[in-house]
Amino acid sequence: MHRFALKKGRLWCEGVAVDRVADALGTPLYLYSFQTLLDHYRKLEKAFSSAGALICFAVKANGNLAILKALAQAGSGFDVVSGGELRKALLAGAAPQKIVYASVGKTDREIELALRSRVLFFNVESAMELEVLEAACRRLKRRQRVCLRLNPGVQADTHAYISTGQPASKFGMGLSTVESLFKRHREFPHLDLAGIHLHIGSQILEAAPFAAAIAKAIGLAKKARRWGVAIRYLNIGGGLGIVYHRETPQTAQAFASRILPLIKNSSLKLILEPGRFIAGNSGVLLTRVVTLKENGRKRFAVVDAGMNDLIRPSLYGAYHEMVLSGGAARRPRLRYDVVGPVCESGDFFAKDRLLPRLTRGDLLAILGAGAYGFAMSSNYNARPRAAEVMVRGRRWFVIRRRETFQDLVRGERLPPFLQ
Ligand SMILES: Cc1ncc(COP(=O)(O)O)c(C=O)c1O
Repeated sequence: MHRFALKKGRLWCEGVAVDRVADALGTPLYLYSFQTLLDHYRKLEKAFSSAGALICFAVKANGNLAILKALAQAGSGFDVVSGGELRKALLAGAAPQKIVYASVGKTDREIELALRSRVLFFNVESAMELEVLEAACRRLKRRQRVCLRLNPGVQADTHAYISTGQPASKFGMGLSTVESLFKRHREFPHLDLAGIHLHIGSQILEAAPFAAAIAKAIGLAKKARRWGVAIRYLNIGGGLGIVYHRETPQTAQAFASRILPLIKNSSLKLILEPGRFIAGNSGVLLTRVVTLKENGRKRFAVVDAGMNDLIRPSLYGAYHEMVLSGGAARRPRLRYDVVGPVCESGDFFAKDRLLPRLTRGDLLAILGAGAYGFAMSSNYNARPRAAEVMVRGRRWFVIRRRETFQDLVRGERLPPFLQ
């Protein structure tokens, strides 16, 4: 459920007609519904409340400070994957004791920052990282709680680029490696090996692969306890799928009713790291039609957003629903390739999509753009990044101004021999 709706052909977000915002700020423009964001967070929180689970929003999905602040105020924790994400979460008011830090490549600087910030967990992804972390803790006279990331060898039915739990993946460690590290736990006196971390991929629509991975983790926890390791936490990662097109993903409640019985007698405290589930359908990308053209085989609608603004269709072949705001009812429907202005054939948002006949200046909303939308955007083709707006009730607020030309060249320098 989200709070975007067409009323008499005009798209509304909560109590705001989105064309008003587009007129005021121009396009392309990301627009988020505050209430949808919180609804999704609360759905998960409620579903897992009986287990007292900690929900850590995955900052990589959407790192805007206003989004983070809204979730922090609602009680959310955060999953961060870089020093930058950690600093953003802290700046947004996140409690360090609700922050978990994962990454296959943590630098010395990032490790030190996270240790000094006293984050709840490091999710450790290799034997070498564990050794480096032990040395850093010794140096800084810190003790740190750690989850070892198990790669459970589970295949989730999703795009290969966002599937992370199979043996060929760079993420986590195989069972035998994690077991050997738990057996070596006395070699890490500054580390409290308190948990197991899983994250098997993203946009997963059913509970079965999660359940298979969790079963392996619980078996591992039992063994580790026999070896003298006090395992208390199980972090099952993110990955819950959402509706982009015709998917029928599990609800938070259905997911919880499948997962909670698995950990019932394990005395493990649960951590979840949802990103897409919370933010995905809380945002749209607004864009206007710039040009229409046909080449005999195809009819193109060129819009003012490009793959630099929303890369998911180009990168994953992802489907995003597209809605014309204003005047759709009276128009015949035609098939379009909706493409951006970027100099790449992969710069498209939809292929052969049936849409009301478009005219120059039409406002299109690309739905499901709240997660991995702005967060993955770039300045490719020297395109300033879009503005971001948060709608709450009948009011809207700019939460990131549109970038300017000055932003594009800020930080660039001419060497003396070119001046
Ligand atoms: C370790 C980890 N946790 C959580 C997430 C969030 O995943 P999702 O947005 O699918 O919930 C990701 C996504 O890549 C991840 O790598």
